[in-house]
Amino acid sequence: MEAVFIVVGGGIAGVTCAETLAFFEPEKTIILLSESSLIKTVTNLLAITRTLTKFDIKEVQSSEFSLKHPNVKLIHDTLAEVNDKEKYIITKTNKIIKYEYLCLCTGAEPKLIPQSQDFEEILGIRDTDSIDTFIKKINNAKKIVIVGNGGIASELAYKIKNTEIHWVIKDRHISATFVDPGAAEFFLPSLNKDEIQKEPVSKRMRYQEEDFKKSGAALGPDWYTNLIIRGAGDINIPSTVKIHYETEISDVSRDKKSEHPMEITLSTGEKIKCDIIISATGVMAKKLFKTKSDLELTNLGEIQVNEHMETNIPYIYAAGDVCSANWSIAKHWFQMKLWTQARQMGSYAAKCMAGHLNKEEVLQDFCFEMFAHSTKLFGHKVILLGLFNGQKLGTNYEILIRMTKGHEYIKFVLENNKLQGAVLIGDTDLEEMAENLILNQIDLSPYGDDILNPDIDIEDYFD
Ligand SMILES: Cc1cc2nc3c(=O)[nH]c(=O)nc-3n(C[C@H](O)[C@H](O)[C@H](O)COP(=O)(O)OP(=O)(O)OC[C@H]3O[C@@H](n4cnc5c(N)ncnc54)[C@H](O)[C@@H]3O)c2cc1C
Ligand SMILES: *[C@@H]1O[C@H](CO)[C@@H](O)[C@H](O)[C@H]1NC(C)=O
Repeated sequence: MEAVFIVVGGGIAGVTCAETLAFFEPEKTIILLSESSLIKTVTNLLAITRTLTKFDIKEVQSSEFSLKHPNVKLIHDTLAEVNDKEKYIITKTNKIIKYEYLCLCTGAEPKLIPQSQDFEEILGIRDTDSIDTFIKKINNAKKIVIVGNGGIASELAYKIKNTEIHWVIKDRHISATFVDPGAAEFFLPSLNKDEIQKEPVSKRMRYQEEDFKKSGAALGPDWYTNLIIRGAGDINIPSTVKIHYETEISDVSRDKKSEHPMEITLSTGEKIKCDIIISATGVMAKKLFKTKSDLELTNLGEIQVNEHMETNIPYIYAAGDVCSANWSIAKHWFQMKLWTQARQMGSYAAKCMAGHLNKEEVLQDFCFEMFAHSTKLFGHKVILLGLFNGQKLGTNYEILIRMTKGHEYIKFVLENNKLQGAVLIGDTDLEEMAENLILNQIDLSPYGDDILNPDIDIEDYFD
C-alpha cells in the first residue's frame, strides 16, 4: 500500500489534519491510521472572535467518518514502526504502507499516580467525553478520593453526586491549571448547591501580583481556609466535597475487610478511607512506536516540532498532545494540551504538508499569536485569553478584578498598563474587546480602573 499522506491517530489532531488535507488535496491519497474504531470529530464549530472558537467533540464510528470523507482511507490499526529512511510504516498487523508525508498525532495518556501499578481501585480517565460514562461506572462507590487539580478533577468534583468526595490538591486553591485564587473563590459555591447565596456584590479590586500571591489576605476573610464544602445530595448519602489543600498522596493501602477497602495517607499524615481513587494528574505523550532515526524529544517524551510542525526527521510532522512547540513562540501564546490546540495544530500541520508538497510557503497560522480557550467549569462559561494567569510575566504585573458572586468573574492581567491576559467567567461579553487590547497592546493608563467599571461602556472608549 502507499499514500501521499499518512496521518496517525484518531483524536482531534489526527482527524482535523486528515480532514484539512482532504479539503486542500482532494486528488491525493490520504490514509488515517486509527487505533480506536471511534473517531473524534469537531462539530458545531463557532468562531467567537478572531482567535476564539467554540466547538463540541463528537465520537463517530469509522463508517460514519468514511461516508463523510470518501477521499480519506481509514485504516483501523496501530502504528508499530516508522522506517524513515525508506519512507514506509509498519503496523501492528504487519501492514507496510509507503508515505511521502507522515503526521504523528498519537496524543497522550493519563499519567496516573505511581501507586496505580499495585491497585486496580486507582482509576485514570482519558477524556471529558468519558466523564459521564465514568461517573456511571463508579456509581456504587460511597466514598471517593480525587487527586489532581486540572479541568478534569474540577469537572469530576462538580459532577459526581451522592457520594462523599475527598479532593486532594497540591495547590492552595482549586482548579489551579485554569484559574487563580480569586476565580477559585468564585467557583467554590458551585460545589455547594445548598448554600444560601448571599446578596450578589460587585467588587472591583486592583492588586499588585505580590499581594495576589500572598493570596487569601486580599481576597476577603480567609476564603481558602474554608475547607469543608457541603454538597447537595440524597439525605441518606450526603454528597460532600472536602478539599485537602497543599497536599499529595504519599501512600495507598488496601484492607478488603473494611467497609471502605482503600486507605490513602496524605503527605500531611492524614489518613482517608475510601472505595476508589481517581487520578487526574495530567497526561503523558504517547509514543509507543519505533523509528529508524531518533526523533528529537523533550525530557517529558514529547516530539519536538518547529514552526512548520516538522519533526527533526524529514517528511515527518507531528501535532496535538504528542508534540511540543519548539519554535520561538509569540509573547501571548503558550502551549497547553487542549482540544483547541489539537485542532489548530492538526489543521496547520496539514497546510504545512500540502505547502511542502506544492513548494509553497506557508505562513504561521494566526492562532499561534495568542492563547485563547473557551470552556465550561462548574457550569459556568469560561474564556481564557493570552497570559491569563500571568504566565511568563514574572512578578511585575497588575491584576484588575471585577466579581459579582454567582454571576461573573473578570480578571485582567496588565503589564505597564497594557493588557496581557484575561479570565472571563460568566456571560461577560468582553472577549472581543479583551482580545483586541491584548493583540494591539493599547496603553490603558488614561482609563485607570474604569476599564472594569460596569457603569461605563468601555467599548465607547475604543470606537
Ligand atoms: C480526562 C480529560 C479531559 C479533558 N477535557 C478537556 C476539555 O474539557 N477541553 C479541552 O480543550 N481539552 C480537554 N482535554 C485535553 C484534550 O483531550 C486533548 O488535548 C486532546 O484530546 C488531544 O488530542 P490529540 O488528537 O492530540 O490526542 P488524543 O485525543 O489522545 O488522540 C490520539 C489518538 O491516537 C491514537 N494512537 C496512539 N498511539 C497510536 C498508534 N501507535 N497507532 C495508532 N493510533 C494511535 C490513540 O488511540 C488516540 O485515538 C482533556 C483531556 C483529558 C485526559
Ligand atoms: C528545537 O530547537 C532547537 C533550538 O532552537 C534546535 O536546535 C532544534 O533543531 C529544534 N528541533 C526541532 C525538531 O525543531
